[in-house]
Amino acid sequence: MMRKPLIAGNWKLNKTINESQQLSRQLLESLGTVSNREIVIAPVFTALNAVSEIIKSSSILLAAQNCYPATTGAFTGELSPLFLQDAGCQYVIIGHSERRQLLHETNAFINQKLIGVIQAGLKPILCIGETLQQREDGQMLEILGQQIKEGLVDLTTDQMATVVIAYEPIWAIGTGKTASSEQAQEAHAYIRSLLQEIFNSSVAEQTRILYGGSVKPDNIDTLMAQTDIDGALVGGASLKAEDFVRIVRFL
Ligand code: G3P
Repeated sequence: MMRKPLIAGNWKLNKTINESQQLSRQLLESLGTVSNREIVIAPVFTALNAVSEIIKSSSILLAAQNCYPATTGAFTGELSPLFLQDAGCQYVIIGHSERRQLLHETNAFINQKLIGVIQAGLKPILCIGETLQQREDGQMLEILGQQIKEGLVDLTTDQMATVVIAYEPIWAIGTGKTASSEQAQEAHAYIRSLLQEIFNSSVAEQTRILYGGSVKPDNIDTLMAQTDIDGALVGGASLKAEDFVRIVRFL
C-alpha cells in the first residue's frame, strides 16, 4: 500500500504576517508544483489568510496550529474549525505536546477538537508522544496507547480516513536529539497496530503517520526509509525555506 508522503511545517509562534508572506513566496517558488508528496505549512493564526492568498493556486496546503471545539458563539478569544476553513485552511494540528504540557490539554478535549475539525470538513493532524521520563520508565507504549485510544474515541472509519497522526517524542522536540530511525519505526509500527485493533487493517494501512522531533535535511532520508514513517512534522527546520525545501525533496 503506497501512502503519499506528507511533509508539514509547524512554524509555531514565529513570523509576522510580512515574514510569513516572504517565506511562503520562497516555498511557492521551489515547491509550488510538487505533486509526489503532500506539503503543508502551518503559520500563526494572524498570518493564515495572507499566506492562503499566496499559496491557494499551488500544491502547498495550509494548516492551523490549533482550534477550539465549537462552531460559533460565546467563546471569547477562541477560533473554531469553521473560521479556520474560512481563512483558507485544509488541515489543523491538534494536541501538540506544547499545548498538552503548557495548557494541560487532555485526550478528551483533544478528541472533541478532532471531531470538530472533521465535522467542519478539515483534516486533523493528531500529535502524540511520550516524555523522556515515560520512555525511561518503560511507559512509552502505554502512553501512546492512551493518546491514540482516547484521542480517536467515537470516530467512524470514514472519519478516520481524514486523520493524519504525528508521533513526536517530546524529548526530541527542539533538542536536536532526533529519535533514531529504529526508535521511530518501533513507535510508528505500534501506532499502526493500534489502528488495526481499534478500526481495521484498511484504516491501519491507509493512515499516514508522520515523525516529528528535530527533523533536519541530514536525517530525513534515513527516517523516510522506514516502513511505517510516512512523512514529517517539522518545527525549527521549517522556518528556513532552504532547509524545508531540502526536507520535502527527500530521496
Ligand atoms: O510540531 C513539530 C515540532 O514539534 C518539532 O519541532 O523543532 O524539533 O523540528 P522541531
